[in-house]
Amino acid sequence: MPSRFQSYKSFFKQLTLAVVLLTTLPILMGAKKEYTVPVEGLDSALRKPHRIPIKRMFPDKPKFATLKKSPDRTYTMDRPKPLKRQTWWTIPKELKNKAFACQFNKQHVIVVDKEKGGALVAQWMIDQLNEREARNLPTTFGLATGSSPIPVYENLVKAFREQKFKTDNLSTINLDEYIGLEPGDSNSYKQFMRQHLIADLELTDDQFHIFDSQAQSENDPEIQRLQKLLTQNPRHFQLLGIGENGHIGFNEPDDTLSAETPTRIVKLTESTRKANAPYFGGDTTKVPTHARTLGPKDILHAERIVVLAWGEKKKAAIANSILGPIKPQVPASLLQKHLNVVWVMDAEAAATLFKQGGRVTREMARQFPTLFQTPEK
Ligand code: F6R
Repeated sequence: MPSRFQSYKSFFKQLTLAVVLLTTLPILMGAKKEYTVPVEGLDSALRKPHRIPIKRMFPDKPKFATLKKSPDRTYTMDRPKPLKRQTWWTIPKELKNKAFACQFNKQHVIVVDKEKGGALVAQWMIDQLNEREARNLPTTFGLATGSSPIPVYENLVKAFREQKFKTDNLSTINLDEYIGLEPGDSNSYKQFMRQHLIADLELTDDQFHIFDSQAQSENDPEIQRLQKLLTQNPRHFQLLGIGENGHIGFNEPDDTLSAETPTRIVKLTESTRKANAPYFGGDTTKVPTHARTLGPKDILHAERIVVLAWGEKKKAAIANSILGPIKPQVPASLLQKHLNVVWVMDAEAAATLFKQGGRVTREMARQFPTLFQTPEK
């Protein structure tokens, strides 16, 4: 019969064996097959040779993206796991009772009138610019034309005159431009931007980027030029308007449109040409038939996106874009794929959204009585 001492001894032997096996087996079998790592820093880390031990590459606790170990003992990155939707925006105290923040279909929506909305969005842009400036970092804004951003631009110009920010380290890239207008044509988006923002912010030609409005040639070098600029200047903020048909930039409803559609030349729809005719003396035939536009792929690349919508003409497009489903016939619905979008609109543009979204509180009804009186067409 084994002595008590011997049975203790064999018990500890087995225990040690079990511990050794449990700790070494996973290493022998290729260790953990997946590592989840913070997305920040991934780019530079992955540029290093993959053979660097994973723990040295990512000393922090891994979080978001997934690295998979392949048989040759190198690691490849899986698609990053979706980050959480962020709430970087704030509503200043003085607007607390005048702007309403809510969520529909996980999208951040702020209902506010056009004047205050302009001030609010301009403030976000200034805050981001100043915050980056304090860290000595350059900033790039993606900008839009049309009537929607005008209140934002007015507020930016006012704040610049009051020396609330500097533009030395700012550059801008516009979304789109008509094709076939003379460079100095007052209807070109280049002139629009100069008139409403660029000249007042004292931005030089090196800081203000927009497609040329000259006619296209083969292998359009203009698209390549802007594409290069987009790569060199990642946008920290993208301002968007939305068309009555749900377009963003000049990405018109089209069965082939997707979140991967690149920057390119497009044919404008009749409805867009009609909507833009007032700028051309009301004559739709004078509105160019084609334009260059950033594609959804590049639009979605911006770090933060704000979409502006004022007036009841936008209410259907707004409801379809925010409530979904995501479909190419509603280009702005592709923005649901971005995790950092804030939709800023007035009560009229929000009318259908609130009715279809079905989330109406008494407070909303008190603040925006018009929202609930507009008859649905
Ligand atoms: C303009 C642009 C367009 C407009 C849209 C809304 O650069 O990209 O998508 O944002 O047509 O136009 P407005 O603001 O005039 O209603």
